[in-house]
Amino acid sequence: MKRNVVIGCVGLRGSGKSTALREIIRCRPRLVVIDILGEHNFGQRVSNVDGFLEMLEAVSDRENYALTLQPGRGELAEVIDAVSDAVFDVGQLTLALEEVPHYCSPASMPEGLDVLARMGRHRNVDLIYTGQRFAELPRRLTATTDFFVLFGQREPRDLEALAGRVGRDVAQQVEGLPLHGRLVFDVLEGRCIAEKARS
Ligand SMILES: Nc1ncnc2c1ncn2[C@@H]1O[C@H](COP(=O)(O)OP(=O)(O)OP(=O)(O)O)[C@@H](O)[C@H]1O
Ligand SMILES: [Mg+2]
Repeated sequence: MKRNVVIGCVGLRGSGKSTALREIIRCRPRLVVIDILGEHNFGQRVSNVDGFLEMLEAVSDRENYALTLQPGRGELAEVIDAVSDAVFDVGQLTLALEEVPHYCSPASMPEGLDVLARMGRHRNVDLIYTGQRFAELPRRLTATTDFFVLFGQREPRDLEALAGRVGRDVAQQVEGLPLHGRLVFDVLEGRCIAEKARS
């Protein structure tokens, strides 16, 4: 069975997470983007959740599609839950989630997303997410993440949480990253596989 991949882009405000996410998902053949801040432009753009779910169902047999959902402010967690359920049913796609801490806490996340993070491999769903502070990410999501694209972190609490996941050496490197500098950490390999101090 092909293993799905979970990628987390984490780091300070304005460090380049969304830009990295865009680079990673650009060539994905089947793509769903949850674009909370309205900064991406992949395929058809929808703000109505029911409309979005209908569209996903309608395109689910296609080889290529991209849908961007920019949900309204209220009930984000419910929206993510419903979208995650639908994505799990449809399968065979990449789900990109912006700003995970907006609808998750370290100890909890919408159930549908939890299922996707843990069971997505059975449906061939790749996940890619962004978040500013490592300590604010749900632990069950960081625990299933395969690759971290790490931008600068400065807060002791975030560096501590990061060290618990990628080790103290890498956390120290992350602390010293300049603006837009980044490291890519491969969890399975237990080491950094790429770095880019600045573009
Ligand atoms: N590698 C880079 N080199 C130079 N500029 C970059 C680089 N990556 C991103 N930028 C620029 O930095 C700004 C912030 O980038 P981006 O929105 O990707 O950051 P972010 O981490 O997602 O920010 P936020 O936390 O606000 O969501 C943008 O203007 C972007 O064009
Ligand atoms: Mg961003």
